Amino acid sequence: MRVKEILQSPEAIGKSLEAKGWIRTKRGNKNIVFIALNDGSTIHSIQVVINAPDFPEDLIRQLTTGACIGIKGIVVQSPGKEQSVEIQADDITVYGSANPETYPLQKKGHSLEFLREIAHLRPRTNTFGAILRIRHALAFAIHKYFNDNGFYYLHTPIITGSDCEGAGEMFRVTTLSASNPPVLKDGKVDFSEDFFGKETSLTVSGQLEGELGALALSRVYTFGPTFRAENSNTPRHLAEFWMIEPEMAFYEIDDNMDLAEDFLKSLIRYALDHCRDDLEFLQKMYDGELIDRLTFILDNTFERITYTEAIDILVQSGEKFEFQVKWGVDLQTEHERYLVEKHYKKPVMVTDYPKDIKAFYMKQNDDGRTVRGMDVLFPKIGEIIGGSQREENYDKLKSRISELKLPEKDLWWYLETRLFGTAPHSGFGLGFERLVLFITGMGNIRDVIPFPRTPKNAEF
Ligand code: 4AD
Ligand code: MG
Repeated sequence: MRVKEILQSPEAIGKSLEAKGWIRTKRGNKNIVFIALNDGSTIHSIQVVINAPDFPEDLIRQLTTGACIGIKGIVVQSPGKEQSVEIQADDITVYGSANPETYPLQKKGHSLEFLREIAHLRPRTNTFGAILRIRHALAFAIHKYFNDNGFYYLHTPIITGSDCEGAGEMFRVTTLSASNPPVLKDGKVDFSEDFFGKETSLTVSGQLEGELGALALSRVYTFGPTFRAENSNTPRHLAEFWMIEPEMAFYEIDDNMDLAEDFLKSLIRYALDHCRDDLEFLQKMYDGELIDRLTFILDNTFERITYTEAIDILVQSGEKFEFQVKWGVDLQTEHERYLVEKHYKKPVMVTDYPKDIKAFYMKQNDDGRTVRGMDVLFPKIGEIIGGSQREENYDKLKSRISELKLPEKDLWWYLETRLFGTAPHSGFGLGFERLVLFITGMGNIRDVIPFPRTPKNAEF
């Protein structure tokens, strides 16, 4: 039985069963040995009690932190205060020992930085067990939310020929020789000889294809890996991250904001309802205010302001920012966090950004200088969601593409949706790791994805 089931079922008491897992700790003496056995099914370990003289000495010696074992025995009520039940071992199998001289995860207190260097083993710590279970629960809750609300999961491509965000931060995908690629007369690489017969990259967003789906199925979402070659070494950026992107026909910007708020709240509620043990562990170890902060989000309506209002607040704040604020500049994390943590003291949704700092696809407002973009800003995180109403007018979209000198030839199919049966539509992207970061209360995005990809780091 899995440890979680044993601990949760009172009817297990008195029964003989088998548990398998990894030894977290071992203590005792030459007569009696206590083992904390964990199989990752829950933050809690089960205590195994071993009457040492009943077993060969050599076997007892192999029971060290990190070893993988199977225990057959009777479940009994525990006399100890720490746990309700324990297993009295009748039979022990050692699947894999772990030399105490070299096994890096000894009992206590490793720094998160050190654990990043042993990402192949860190899932065996309580901290990463908790984070990975919460991450799983949230992924499930996301699919459930959309399924319950009539959205279809659309699988958008990972290899693409277009740069959705137009920021030029794409990783190239090629099978051409790096040392001796075919070249054209002018010396440029001849991509017509490449695998796809053109230049391709890893996607930065599934949105453009998501829009095609919304203009047929009305409500779709993507949930997949996205890639950005931005050289941002911050606690909130990854080069490979997962993004959830709903896209809805007949939604205007206000509907989009309503959905974003309801969606985020439902995910937080799901975590509070289904991941309580793990959240309590993380609260105890890392962040004393974690559960209060999560509950606070549920209990408060997100503030909705325009970019212009946000700039006014920041300018009048008298705060010394590293990046100066004036109308037209992009909001930096320090500005976003000021609005959320100091000014409104709750999540904030900012809309109507200057068109020059946002992507080409956002719907243009009548003022000629702003677009119907929308960012959701969270405490500790800053931007957690970026989205917009989309420009559905063919001529306006086409002229924006040429104004920005984007390659229209790569976007012909996108433009064509505005020629045939176009419709008002909106959507947004939620960075999955930023969500997990917020919900676990961890401080660094490298600690909420199993194997982080960041500049100069692609180990494991
Ligand atoms: O604001 P972004 O760039 O928006 C888009 O990609 C749109 N196409 C989304 C849409 O409208 N469908 O990214 C969306 C979110 C951000 O708010 C942030 O949470 C996350 O993706 N994000 C990152 N997360 C981790 N590492 C990075 N380098 C990220 N870049 C963006
Ligand atoms: Mg953004």
